[in-house]
Amino acid sequence: MAEAAQPASASASTRARLFFALWPDATVSGRLDAQGRQLRDECRGRLTRRETLHLTLAFLGDVDRQRIAELGAIAAQIDAPAFVLQLDVLGSWTRNRIAWAGCSETPGALQDLAAALAERLRAAGIELERRPFRAHITLLRKIASPFPARGIAPIAWRADEFVLVESVRTAEGARYQVIGRWPLRE
Ligand code: 2AM
Repeated sequence: MAEAAQPASASASTRARLFFALWPDATVSGRLDAQGRQLRDECRGRLTRRETLHLTLAFLGDVDRQRIAELGAIAAQIDAPAFVLQLDVLGSWTRNRIAWAGCSETPGALQDLAAALAERLRAAGIELERRPFRAHITLLRKIASPFPARGIAPIAWRADEFVLVESVRTAEGARYQVIGRWPLRE
């Protein structure tokens, strides 16, 4: 019997645009979404859709799909504790015109998790950016007016797992699909 033709979707291509991330639960993403909407009145820009809010741990870029299983094995080797992030700062970067939420003090466990992933990915020959890790959740892109960082009432986010995400480009922008998840130690 003849095989059905593959749809011309991104998943049919040999490479996938991937990143490891922390994904907030509905309560945290709801509070971040509210912050983003409020900020938009002040600095304009395009709001990150609530269901796509995330904190990137390591951005891999385009990777051969055949390596996804290997990435899963790398992630499974990470033995890192769960932690609580206090999101208590809003800020913006002029370089890429984004507004973000972040923490005035990045938990050591978060720095260590990002560093452990980066080290193992580099050891596997995956090229990552050399820029130091700066924990942030992008709330708005293409903002018209950057602003100095300021404090907000903390949003407590308990991170108890991390995920591998594929960014699929569509006419409406990037669609994110979680393709793997790994628990953080209790
Ligand atoms: P950003 O929110 O600051 O743009 C998916 O694109 C995620 O990976 C985003 O959270 C994005 O961060 C992050 N990322 C890190 N480096 C990137 C790069 N060189 N290109 C695109 N996204 C990158």
